[in-house]
Amino acid sequence: MSKAYLSLSRVDMTFAGPNGGNPVLKNINLDVRRGEYISLIGHSGCGKSTVLNIVAGLLEATSGGVIVDNREVNAPGPDRAVVFQNHSLLPWLTVYQNVEIAVDKIFGGSRSKAERKDWILHNLAMVNMSHALDRLPSQISGGMKQRVGIARALAMEPKVLLLDEPFGALDALTRAHLQDEVIRIQSELGNTVMMITHDVDEAVLMSDRVVMMTNGPSATIGQVLDVPLPRPRNRIALAEDHTYNHCRQEILSFLYEKQRKVEPISARTSSSFTRKEKAVA
Ligand SMILES: Nc1ncnc2c1ncn2[C@@H]1O[C@H](COP(=O)(O)OP(=O)(O)O)[C@@H](O)[C@H]1O
Ligand SMILES: [Mg+2]
Repeated sequence: MSKAYLSLSRVDMTFAGPNGGNPVLKNINLDVRRGEYISLIGHSGCGKSTVLNIVAGLLEATSGGVIVDNREVNAPGPDRAVVFQNHSLLPWLTVYQNVEIAVDKIFGGSRSKAERKDWILHNLAMVNMSHALDRLPSQISGGMKQRVGIARALAMEPKVLLLDEPFGALDALTRAHLQDEVIRIQSELGNTVMMITHDVDEAVLMSDRVVMMTNGPSATIGQVLDVPLPRPRNRIALAEDHTYNHCRQEILSFLYEKQRKVEPISARTSSSFTRKEKAVA
């Protein structure tokens, strides 16, 4: 157990509300190794972002706890950088300045101005944004904004990188490019990553393990899948890879057979029930 770098133990989360509130998470237990790339996958609304926000320290679990590098998490900190689905750049600052503000805050006391500048430029180069340093967020595309958000997160040298559907708002091609970039950067830097996704291919392509969540309320971890594919990974070659397709199949079967979303009964006539559902009902 002590080998875990990031660990969630017995995490429960109930949001306040009538009738005892809304029990979203129940007994989440997960150990992540240093340098591991973990994806959390599950149906919309099951509680994935809630897990990530608890790890980020933005939400406090109702019970249970999170440990990162032997220290209990109880507030947000620079050791856990978050990238959200929709970029969170400051609109009045340029691309460069958006990274600078984070770097100055964290390294202002420990690195010289010239060192910080080099570091900002290095991280923006890593995500291929060197050509747009002086542009404002309103002057760049959605994919470019996500790149800057990722550069800003990496520039903080976080112990853990938390990605909440970071590619979710992008078109398919931009998404593929940025996934490849994050895969490359992660293999260079060896970051520990927890990524939320609802995209099965993205989960398999990028992860060392895929953590599958059951549907809420009281969602928990239903299954954890190892992705024993060597790196570097090539999305085109993988399309015909047996192991890749097996992993995909496991996740699809979890999501669409074991955790199938059942429509509210009022939305259907009883004749539309399949035999299996009737047996359950
Ligand atoms: N701050 C909050 N207060 C009350 N309920 C919340 C809050 N945040 C999320 N929820 C509820 O928790 C559940 C899980 O939400 P979320 O973690 O965002 O799901 P996911 O990211 O898997 O789509 C939803 O039912 C949502 O309405
Ligand atoms: Mg979410």
